Parts: sequence; C-alpha cells; structure tokens
Amino acid sequence: MLFTPITIRGVTIRNRIMLSPMNQHRAHDGFADDSLLVHLGKFALGGFGIIMTEATAIERNGRVAHGDLGIWADEHIPGLRRVCNYLRNMGATPGVQLAHSGRKGASQRPWQGFGPLNETDAKRGEPPWPLVSPTREALGPGHVVPEQLSLDGIDDVLRSYANAAARADAAGFDIIEVHAGHGYLIASFLSPVINTRNDEYGGDFAGRIRFALKVAEAVRSHWPQHKPLIFRLSSVDGHPEGWKIEDSVNLARELKRCGVDIIDCSSGGLRQSTALENAKRYPGYQVTYASQIKREAGIATVAVGLILDGRQAEQVLNEQHADFVAIGRQALYDPFWAHHAAQEFGIDPNFESWDVSAGWWLAKRKDGLAEIGLNGAGKVERSLRERTDAMRDR
Ligand SMILES: Cc1cc2nc3c(=O)[nH]c(=O)nc-3n(C[C@H](O)[C@H](O)[C@H](O)COP(=O)(O)O)c2cc1C
Repeated sequence: MLFTPITIRGVTIRNRIMLSPMNQHRAHDGFADDSLLVHLGKFALGGFGIIMTEATAIERNGRVAHGDLGIWADEHIPGLRRVCNYLRNMGATPGVQLAHSGRKGASQRPWQGFGPLNETDAKRGEPPWPLVSPTREALGPGHVVPEQLSLDGIDDVLRSYANAAARADAAGFDIIEVHAGHGYLIASFLSPVINTRNDEYGGDFAGRIRFALKVAEAVRSHWPQHKPLIFRLSSVDGHPEGWKIEDSVNLARELKRCGVDIIDCSSGGLRQSTALENAKRYPGYQVTYASQIKREAGIATVAVGLILDGRQAEQVLNEQHADFVAIGRQALYDPFWAHHAAQEFGIDPNFESWDVSAGWWLAKRKDGLAEIGLNGAGKVERSLRERTDAMRDR
C-alpha cells in the first residue's frame, strides 16, 4: 500500500508518504529562499509523495514567530514557484499548509525559548506584533493580549485565506492543507475552552465550526476543482471540557460537503506545545483518530505522530486506518525515509525511483555488494560465517 500511487481529484501522488508540515522559521519577511529549496528538496530526492511546506502565514500578523514562511503577498509567489518546480521535477507533489496563528503568534522560535517575544527579542530587532483571536484572552502571562475578531474582521481573514489559495495555485502547489489544529486561529474557534463568544461564531457546535467551514468555502472558491484540499485538525484538544473525537467526526462530515477531501489527524496544542495535554506519546499514538474519522465520516485521512518505519506505516494503511501517513521528526532524522522503506520491502531493487544520477550508481554497485553478502543498502544480509566463506571463495 505504501508505494501504491493514488489519485485524488485530478492529482496523482506517487506514494502514500507525506512530509508532515514542520516549521523552520528561517524565512525573511515570509520569503522562500535557498534554505527552503534545499530543506524541502532533500525530501523530494528522498522519495516522499507529498511534500507539505511548514505553516505558511496567510497574513503577516498570522505568523507564529519571526522567520515563518508567508503567502500574504503576491511578491511571495516567485520564490514559492521555484520550490514547487523543483519538487515536481523530482517526482513529488508540492503542498502548502495555509496557517494563521491567532493568539499563538508573536512567539519566540522553539530554540529561543518558545515563550512570548519580549524586550530582549525586540532589542535584536524581533519585536512582538498585534494578534487576533475569537476572544480577548491571551495565550498566557507575557503573551500579547489579542484583539477580539469582529464580524468585519472575520470577513477580512476569510478574504486573506481566499487570496492565499489563489497565490498557492499561481505558485504551482497541487495540494493545500489548511491548518485548523494546535490551538491556532481556526482551532481556537472550534474549542469550547477558548471560544466563549456568544455571537454566530461561538456558542454551540454549529456556531464554533462556522469559521472553519467558511475558511473551507473561501479556499475552495479560489482553488481549482481538480486540486485536493486537506484540513489538519487537532482530533481532540486534550482538555476535559474541550473538543472531542466525535466533534472531529461531525466536523469532517461538514468539511466534506464544503469540498475538503482529506483530514490530517493530529491532536492537542491548545495552549503551548503540540503534545496532547497530559498524554503519553508512543508509536502511532494518533492513528486511532485517523481511523475513527475515516470510518465514521467516510473521508480519506492522514495518520501522523511517531510513525517511525516502513513496516509500521504499511500496517496503518493495510488495516485501513488511514490513506496516507505523514512523517515528521523521523524525516528530519532520515530525509531518505521513503526510499529506505522501499529498499526494506525489496520493492525497488534497481533503485529506479531514485534520482537517476544516484540510482544508476547504486544499482550498479548492488551486484558487487551481493558478492560479499551485503544488500543494496550496504548492510549485512547473510550471516558473518556465510559472508566470510563468500569472500574466501572469490
Ligand atoms: C520542528 C517541528 C515543526 C513543526 N511545525 C509544524 C507546522 O508548521 N504545522 C503543523 O501542522 N505541525 C507542525 N509540527 C507537527 C508535525 O507536523 C507532526 O504532526 C508532529 O511532529 C508529530 O509527527 P512526528 O512524530 O512524525 O514528528 C511540527 C513538528 C516539529 C517537530
């Protein structure tokens, strides 16, 4: 399953492996540069099917941190187009994650403390900026108190999503993923813990999902019909009075009606990190969410979270818990994760899915390695005794 191509709407993806969106915070004023090209390019060379950009801000004030990638201006298009062209030339499908940080913006980069931007940051030229949210409640002490979005303000944000979708198309992306998880703007409308509004965008379930549905409609209206649309949800927010898996199933049904094709099933992140509050992480810790949403809402899903190797991924797909797997930190550890999984399964013995300039040489090397008991990856396949015998006999 892992290496079976799939067509969603008019886009064919070479396998079921997605690079999970991962912020680098390396951009300057949102612009894609060489650093993004090299970063994402290595996963395309490494055999990934969908290469999803990091959270890409639809408004300048919707960045999480200084250095976030942006798509809030037409000037961002050429840099993104250069990246898309390269990814596509390497056989991958380029996707962009459209994001608005809401009250979780104006934060330090993770390695600078993950806290609110403060005076020290401002002195090095990285001051905080105004934020918006469903309410005026700040993320925590020291964080910018957000402005409560008015109805006009909501319309402005919806227009920003629509414009960002049009720019994504112009840049050559084939997939949009809307980031509606991890406590960012859309997720904060969904969660009853944060959204205490009493107008049409708050209150009961129908009120709290209204903004998400309008985002889906706005994006769909500016995104070609033949291109797939993914929504990333925090399937549960991990708070006892919070958003539940049943809510995600019901929202997924509604999103499907608005033209969403796939749900990417993450969790948590309501407040600080993306870790599900108080939950332990173990391999495949979020797969059950992808499974339940797929089964009960009748929509394709992405499973994500500590999916570590090809066999584990294959099992997720084979048991029909999800249609795709997203690989995050394990891809940082091994950008050639997809090619390595194919080698492990023995399904690409002649390295034909690799970039030809590498694959040709690895295929040629293979026979020589086999003579000394090593497989195509240069690893021992036979016992030491067998290998020694083979070497002596040469
Ligand atoms: C460095 C880093 C940056 C991340 N940035 C994003 C992001 O921009 N958008 C997002 O939806 N999730 C983000 N995540 C969450 C990952 O996409 C993924 O869901 C999470 O790491 C769990 O998958 P994993 O165990 O395979 O890493 C980030 C995770 C890491 C480690």
